[in-house]
Amino acid sequence: MDKLLIRGGRQLNGTVTVSGAKNAALPELCATLLTPEPVKLLNVPRLQDVATMRKLLGHMGVQTQTHGERGGMSFSAAGPITPEAPYELVKTMRASVLVLGPLLARFGHARVSLPGGCAIGSRPVDQHIKGLTAMGAEIAVEHGYMVAKLAAGRTRLKGARIATDMVTVTGTENFMMAAVLAEGETILENAAQEPEIPDLAEMLIQMGARIEGHGTSRIVIQGVDALHGCTHRVVADRIEAGTFLCAVAAAGGDVVVQHARIEHLEAVVEKLRDAGVTVTKVPDGIRVQSGGAAQLKAQHFRTTEYPGFPTDMQAQFMALNTVAKGSSLVTETIFENRFMHVNELVRLGANIQIDGKVAMVEGVRVLSGATVMATDMRASASLVIAGLVAEGETLVDRIYHLDRGYDQMETKLRGLGADIERVKS
Ligand code: EPZ
Repeated sequence: MDKLLIRGGRQLNGTVTVSGAKNAALPELCATLLTPEPVKLLNVPRLQDVATMRKLLGHMGVQTQTHGERGGMSFSAAGPITPEAPYELVKTMRASVLVLGPLLARFGHARVSLPGGCAIGSRPVDQHIKGLTAMGAEIAVEHGYMVAKLAAGRTRLKGARIATDMVTVTGTENFMMAAVLAEGETILENAAQEPEIPDLAEMLIQMGARIEGHGTSRIVIQGVDALHGCTHRVVADRIEAGTFLCAVAAAGGDVVVQHARIEHLEAVVEKLRDAGVTVTKVPDGIRVQSGGAAQLKAQHFRTTEYPGFPTDMQAQFMALNTVAKGSSLVTETIFENRFMHVNELVRLGANIQIDGKVAMVEGVRVLSGATVMATDMRASASLVIAGLVAEGETLVDRIYHLDRGYDQMETKLRGLGADIERVKS
């Protein structure tokens, strides 16, 4: 297993470019199942999860090809498609559940492995099943698989009004991709509003779908008979961008994060400004300036659905709080087990106590480098940020978690002056 070796204490300066958003690319790869015509995606990030999703689509019979320009990828689901997502692939990536909606919409049946638990919580798919059932699917759970087909007498899904028990990002995406080819109108009452949802909707609209309200909590979709191909550019990754903002805030420096959209990160940017970081919008990016964590004031925050503070930024901002002045309360309201980075940060000298959903962080003057272990994607980013400011060497193990969600993180950080290298196992 690869590791990252970081020697802390260096400021970060210069320009870094964020890649396409992982959490937009994953549903958008699945959307290529909705048409027999060619689809081209641009700005697709080079990530392990994207490679896994591409492999899953290939397993089903989708032809895929990468193109020279950065992140170009083309797809054809014209040939025979086997609507199956096997456990070997699904177990490594929960987002595989996103093939369910498109497969039901276009082919009327699917057999998709249940995702199984994951590090940050149980993360069931009961809401996905509830919504698709309302649209005329019959989904049975057999031997660890969701076996889905159209209810007796139906030749296609039907529009429905869907109100899930809680806001679900991939649930909203699954319902959108099912509804675009369903018969009649679908209304998603408490839809997720994360920017990846409108980005997926824009792609579907380019393919001929009729969608309104995307980006709000109420999305209305009129089903059509067929969709055609399109070329779509994946929106910039706001979580990767936010990760770089927190890294510069903690390490100190002056960086332009290119292609980042400040309007997608308002909750995080406000907290950084309250902490004492200078964050400004520049043409096609965000500029971040910081004198380093010792000059910053720790910030209380709680994660909520968009446009609130994103759960995917919780670990990274906590790393900043561990070396900022004062104490802070970090409350995680979305997932039940998303504090696994805490023990590893404590190994670096952080002062953190967990009480249920709340972590109490007392800023310390200095962290000291150590060997730590990544436990999930954003936890690994948190440990990298801590390593950038810790005295001495930090070795982050199991960085396959990082590679799932970040496109060449160490190369980008080295380009900003960090002393960081990948140690091949
Ligand atoms: C998406 O996961 C993201 N993944 C996650 O990003 C992100 O943390 C999460 O949304 C919340 O913003 C992708 O987009 C691929 P949810 P998702 O359904 O859709 C519960 C990362 O780091 N729930 O919005 O799986 C669930 O357990 C990843 O990039 C049910 O109970 O999350 C959670 O507590 C991590 N039943 C809450 O809802 C369901 O059927 C929100 O989950 C669905 C969800």
